[in-house]
Amino acid sequence: MLDNRPRFATRFGVIATTVGSAVGLGNIWRFPYEAGAHGGGAFLILYIACIAFIGIPVVCAEFVMGRASRLNIFGAFRTLAPRGGRRWAVVGGMGIMASIMILSFYSVVAGWTIEYLWQSVAGTLADIDSAGRHAAFDTFTGGWRCVMWTIVILALNGVIMLGGVQKGIERASNWLMPVLFLLLVVLAVNSLLLPGAADGLKFFFTPDFSSMTADDVLAALGQAFFSLSLGLGTMMIYGSYFSSRTRLVRSAATTAALDTLVAITAGVIIFPAVFSYGAEPSAGPKLVFEVLPDIFNHMSGGSVWSSAFFLLLLLASLTSTISMSEISVAYFCEQWRMKRRTAVVVNFVLVASLGTLCALSFGPLAHRTVFGMTFFNLFDFVTSNVMMPLGGMLISFFTGWILDRRILESELSPTPRAIVRGIAFSLRYVAPGAIAIIFVNGLL
Ligand code: PFF
Repeated sequence: MLDNRPRFATRFGVIATTVGSAVGLGNIWRFPYEAGAHGGGAFLILYIACIAFIGIPVVCAEFVMGRASRLNIFGAFRTLAPRGGRRWAVVGGMGIMASIMILSFYSVVAGWTIEYLWQSVAGTLADIDSAGRHAAFDTFTGGWRCVMWTIVILALNGVIMLGGVQKGIERASNWLMPVLFLLLVVLAVNSLLLPGAADGLKFFFTPDFSSMTADDVLAALGQAFFSLSLGLGTMMIYGSYFSSRTRLVRSAATTAALDTLVAITAGVIIFPAVFSYGAEPSAGPKLVFEVLPDIFNHMSGGSVWSSAFFLLLLLASLTSTISMSEISVAYFCEQWRMKRRTAVVVNFVLVASLGTLCALSFGPLAHRTVFGMTFFNLFDFVTSNVMMPLGGMLISFFTGWILDRRILESELSPTPRAIVRGIAFSLRYVAPGAIAIIFVNGLL
């Protein structure tokens, strides 16, 4: 056990960093289009159920493993598993690889937000009409400019990472997260005042289970996993920086509640606007990048709103990228004894190379495919459909069945016994079972 490991300094810092990891493109870009494509209100209810019954227990499992071992995911499995944990360490290795791969494509989308912010501030986004929007998106994502923005995101990420846990990650999250919440509230109020906002709210909040399919349930579970950053060791590495006084169950519940609140607020921002301007709620991943600029164009002071929105998306994604980097940087430092600075540089070089391949997947490398997928799609597919669910399933299985029950109980205390039992039950049966279903479905 390493005693000189850093710790988050304050309770606010604990929540700001974990919420900073959870809240990102997943809430503001992915959640609205998934909800739009999977039935609005009914999706919302299923999503909340997945967060409560599976998400929160798995966040607790990651916190427990992190704080009990005070190590990165690889080291945590090796220390906590019986007989040296060689086999279990493979799960850790998979988490580290997955974090590098996710960061590679996530930073490309985060880079797109810089371009849209740039164009919003310069006013050029408003010059394009809806017919030209699609072509403009394709031209931009097909060129080298998006490689530049990907590198800029990774460089910003590297600078914060160099600052370390308390001075870098915690300090950045402490001011980025409140700014983000403020911006969200302002944008939501603006959307609620739009003519026809009620139709959007009705779509988003009125559940209609009659047309619900198994696919919608699985989409809700997958979204819950992505949004809570589960299955790779993100919450584990942050848990390893918690002080021994931090209450794990309470922190997990607060993180999940705030993450869900942001996703709901993103829906409240987007759906009234979509309905008010006659756009399609099921437009898919382009909803934010193609539909919203159009909507902003119709609004008075549109470029101010679109600048605020893309700034929000940029800040949210930046704090999530930091949590992904921390997985591999902590691994390099703790298992390979690298200095933090060296580890940050190694991580940067690795991710910038893979990120460039992902960024070019929409242009010069669009025809280079592996298993029929571009690098971007391959990384997205392999991480979201294989590595995250598999990692989450194994983490819950490990804490439910293999980890010494006394460690689980003492890390989760002081929490009422009934709640601890409920969490243990989910980790043993509900979470691995449900995740196994998404996993199988994801591969079919
Ligand atoms: N939870 C982040 C989001 O919703 O954007 C995405 C994410 C962060 C996934 C960190 C995985 C991860 F390790």
